[in-house]
Amino acid sequence: MDQNLAVLVLALSLLSLNAAFVVEGVRAQAMFVFGDSLVDPGNNNDLLTLAKANYFPNGIDFSGGATGRFCNGRTTADYLGNLIGLPLIPAFNGFTTMSSRTIPGINFASAGAGILNDTGRHFGQLCPMDEQIKNFRRILREITSKAGGIDGYLGKSLFLVGVGSNDYINNYLFPTSDRPNQYTPNAYHQLLIQEYERQLKNLYDLGGRRFLIAGLGPLGCIPNQIGYLNQSTNNCVERINRMASRFNSKLKSMLRGLNSNLSEAYFLYWDIYTSSMDIINNASHYGFKYTHKACCGGGRTKGQIICLPLLPFECENRSEFVFWDPYHPTDAFNAIISREAYQGKLQNKYPMNVQHLIEL
Ligand SMILES: *[C@@H]1O[C@H](CO)[C@@H](O)[C@H](O)[C@H]1NC(C)=O
Ligand SMILES: *[C@@H]1O[C@H](CO)[C@@H](O)[C@H](O)[C@H]1NC(C)=O
Ligand SMILES: *[C@@H]1O[C@H](CO)[C@@H](O)[C@H](O)[C@H]1NC(C)=O
Ligand SMILES: *[C@@H]1O[C@H](CO)[C@@H](O)[C@H](O)[C@H]1NC(C)=O
Ligand SMILES: *[C@@H]1O[C@H](CO)[C@@H](O)[C@H](O)[C@H]1NC(C)=O
Repeated sequence: MDQNLAVLVLALSLLSLNAAFVVEGVRAQAMFVFGDSLVDPGNNNDLLTLAKANYFPNGIDFSGGATGRFCNGRTTADYLGNLIGLPLIPAFNGFTTMSSRTIPGINFASAGAGILNDTGRHFGQLCPMDEQIKNFRRILREITSKAGGIDGYLGKSLFLVGVGSNDYINNYLFPTSDRPNQYTPNAYHQLLIQEYERQLKNLYDLGGRRFLIAGLGPLGCIPNQIGYLNQSTNNCVERINRMASRFNSKLKSMLRGLNSNLSEAYFLYWDIYTSSMDIINNASHYGFKYTHKACCGGGRTKGQIICLPLLPFECENRSEFVFWDPYHPTDAFNAIISREAYQGKLQNKYPMNVQHLIEL
């Protein structure tokens, strides 16, 4: 199909989706987001940390400019919120200044954060998963009273959780880490899964019922890992991809357990790994030209130096890149995988995708 035609068809199908919402009035009550920089809307902006992105050229294609998102445009949390009929979900650090009576949700995600408390600490301050959940617990009464009268408000909200990448990249695999001396890779996967399971059960105990859990992407394909670890700039680092895959299989079986043990709970596994590999291997089919080098960054594959305002910025056409910076994908990539999560075949039992999940 001709490129412009494809875009038109896509735009039309999105329009008709929105129309369907208006007619049927199906939308999630709210969306609560937990995780790391892949979904952080700027929660680290006021922290003492290197893990923040509230400067140009981040946000170059975002209506609000440089908000703290590690992206040229929207994150998957932004896209999914839109697909389920909600306005932009505000960051937790802006919560106290929010005046509206009913809120569309809150995003607690923090760049550099992981499942474990010590993950990403070399960046400075951040908010690990346990603390994000604590923040949610702290303002729970206020949220639900603002939503007063809405039956089963939390139970009808979407909980998006995406965490774990930093527990590898900025913990176990970090050059100065002592973890490999304490844990075999397998024992480390196990530790993460056990802590993650406890955290998801906490969110269930607090009232969450409809969960979309993002698996890890192919971590060996991010420009940072390719830039540092592989001679060939057109190949992913297999060893790192294998670690992500093993974590993902354990995550999937943990979620199966939660689905069968926790009543009325739905934990959808989001297979970002497979979607990413499909996009990387069939780049032109999706309109991408560059799959292994970043748009903004420096050094080999532009993966060795983070995206900074002082670096020469020569990336005119962001939609041709899978990766925005050494670690994070572009708006164009996020748009594609979010649509897959919403409409696509995530798993072969009901609910299959996010659209089914919020209609339950
Ligand atoms: C993180 O620290 C909190 C106490 O601040 C503790 O309750 C929790 O178990 C720790 N989480 C992990 C994953 O170690
Ligand atoms: C680099 O990529 C090549 C080709 O995929 C692979 O054979 C090699 O093992 C990789 N090197 C590292 C250090 O992973
Ligand atoms: C689910 O319940 C079974 C049986 O009580 C137990 O063996 C299993 O560990 C539980 N799994 C989870 C994820 O809680
Ligand atoms: C993408 O590439 C994979 C091989 O990596 C292939 O199996 C699949 O059919 C391709 N998909 C499309 C849409 O071209
Ligand atoms: C940007 O890239 C997309 C996808 O390859 C292409 O359709 C579009 O024409 C390009 N725009 C410019 C200004 O080069």
